[in-house]
Amino acid sequence: MPYERIVILTGAGISAESGIPTFRDKGGLWSKYDLEEVATPEGFSRQPDLVHEFYNARRKDLLRVKPNAAHYALARLEREYPGEVLLVTQNVDDLHERAGSRRLLHMHGELLKIRCEACQGVFPERGAVSTKTPCPGCGVVGRLRPHVVWFGEMPFHLEEIYQALGRCDLFLAIGTSGTVYPAAGFVEIARRAGAWCVELNLEPSAVTELFHEHHFGPASEVVPAYVERLLKKARSC
Ligand code: OAD
Repeated sequence: MPYERIVILTGAGISAESGIPTFRDKGGLWSKYDLEEVATPEGFSRQPDLVHEFYNARRKDLLRVKPNAAHYALARLEREYPGEVLLVTQNVDDLHERAGSRRLLHMHGELLKIRCEACQGVFPERGAVSTKTPCPGCGVVGRLRPHVVWFGEMPFHLEEIYQALGRCDLFLAIGTSGTVYPAAGFVEIARRAGAWCVELNLEPSAVTELFHEHHFGPASEVVPAYVERLLKKARSC
């Protein structure tokens, strides 16, 4: 087997061809919306209904799209690779799950979940939420928020992620600009642990020089091709 433990980090680029806009590309979400308004705790305290509307619209859009060949290739890798495969995503969509990935950590939360700030319960949500929606758990009104990580908040699962990065021997970063920390720093940790680091992206990311190997192109092409080669190598070992 070429590698014993693989950690894969994905970003918005992997879902772009499914029809979900990225954040920082031309026409990306942060060119249309003010990040301070819709993706910070302060923005939510100031205008909770506006923030709910933003996430309601994104939830609605998500339910209309499907996983693409890159999501399916990573699910196949998890199923068929003889070693450990951990997928860490910055994406709040559920396209990895729908494609069949199971060992998956959503470090920036999940769009199809809401959280109650009164009881701290996390609940599935596929529809629209407002400041008038009661918590499905405790019934308190006006304390629900999207279960996503905003700027200035701590990402989820960091302990488990750092542990996996410290033990991995192959690290893949797919469709991420390498501009948002801590995720942008994962390559450095994996590299220090001795892992071979591979970037699969449309173009060089902000941390591209830290990777040993690069495959530039649309995720729906470069990811299935890379997975195919890795599985072939594993079979021939
Ligand atoms: P970005 O929008 O910053 O970057 C998307 C990356 O995907 C860019 O490097 C593009 O070149 C690449 N890309 C675009 N289309 C692609 C395609 N078809 N195939 C392969 N690559 C493609 O998105 P992220 O790096 O995911 O955080 O952003 C990180 C975080 O910033 C997000 O999780 C979000 C955002 O603000 C929070 O909301 C906390």
